[in-house]
Amino acid sequence: MANNRIVIFGAAGFIGFHLASALSKNKKSELVLVDNFVRSEFDSEFRELINQANCEFIEADARDEKFLAQLIQPADVVYNLIAFNGTGNFYEVPSDVISHSALTGINIARICAVKKVKKYYYFGSSESYAGGVENSWVPLPTPENVPFVISDPSNPRWSYAISKQIGEMVCYANRVQYGLDFLIFRIHNIYGPRMGFDHVVPDLIKKFANGDGKVLGPEQTRSFLYIDDAIKLILELSVKSEAGDISESVINIGSDLEVRIQEVAEILKCLINPALDLVSQEAPVGSVARRKPDIGTLRKYISFDPLSISEGLARTKQDYFQNKRF
Ligand SMILES: NC(=O)c1ccc[n+]([C@@H]2O[C@H](COP(=O)([O-])OP(=O)(O)OC[C@H]3O[C@@H](n4cnc5c(N)ncnc54)[C@H](O)[C@@H]3O)[C@@H](O)[C@H]2O)c1
Repeated sequence: MANNRIVIFGAAGFIGFHLASALSKNKKSELVLVDNFVRSEFDSEFRELINQANCEFIEADARDEKFLAQLIQPADVVYNLIAFNGTGNFYEVPSDVISHSALTGINIARICAVKKVKKYYYFGSSESYAGGVENSWVPLPTPENVPFVISDPSNPRWSYAISKQIGEMVCYANRVQYGLDFLIFRIHNIYGPRMGFDHVVPDLIKKFANGDGKVLGPEQTRSFLYIDDAIKLILELSVKSEAGDISESVINIGSDLEVRIQEVAEILKCLINPALDLVSQEAPVGSVARRKPDIGTLRKYISFDPLSISEGLARTKQDYFQNKRF
């Protein structure tokens, strides 16, 4: 493969870090990694990543249009994984959530379009249609072509969802106006090492290790995909997309193995603290009861066999304990 420059926005975050680590293995690729750490840490693993000869790190706020115009070059492949999420943030600092998540989506897509980059990859979210699930307007499993719904604009819980909707919409707008070549990966419940604590899996690991058996929303279900599987899919789809072999504009990334949160809790309890008593509690306000992507489009391009939830949880637990993350 010829030398190619890949720009990754949100590279210090959960998926961005794992994606950059995988891409950095191709020494013919030059990686430019961007993050402002509003939602991530400059930890030893990230330092090790950026110390590689083919990685350059720029600490910057990607809302800044002047910075983006200087950085992005026509031959670049650009991955935009920026978001400012976390349920607490949706309620406490919703203006910041929209500013970081939406302005970056608007500005990066526009500059990629004007510069005519080789490919723009945007990381969308199942939250974009969560209002439709809540109101039973979208089917389960959920395909890509469903309406985006904001149930109540006065409720700050929707600050993240509307930002992710804008992130997808601007891809189409820039294709119409400037010919942007893009693909949206619509992400559904990825989990694994170094994912922070704002998600159910690490939250349960931490609580169980500390003797707290509370399980929020045990009857809710999610379709979890292990991070290594997700990265493999994203890389394979990127190759096909850059070869012009993908006709869709958006592809669900997720698993069709639906599990109850109770099951996740029981697996983690056995791994961490078998004597612990699990205590069921109400699900977090506003979280959807079920989430399951239709991954027919994904399977049209790639055959894959997702890692089992028990193996994925065991690897994640191992990482949190080994790296003393709490
Ligand atoms: N993790 C999942 O299961 C999941 C589910 C649905 C959608 N997604 C989407 O996938 C993408 C990656 O998710 P993640 O879990 O890795 O998120 P993350 O929060 O771990 O990473 C996002 C990164 O963006 C950075 N960032 C935020 N604002 C910035 C700004 N203005 N300038 C520069 N950097 C900025 C943060 O510091 C963070 O490092 C996001 O766009 C998210 O919406 C993820």
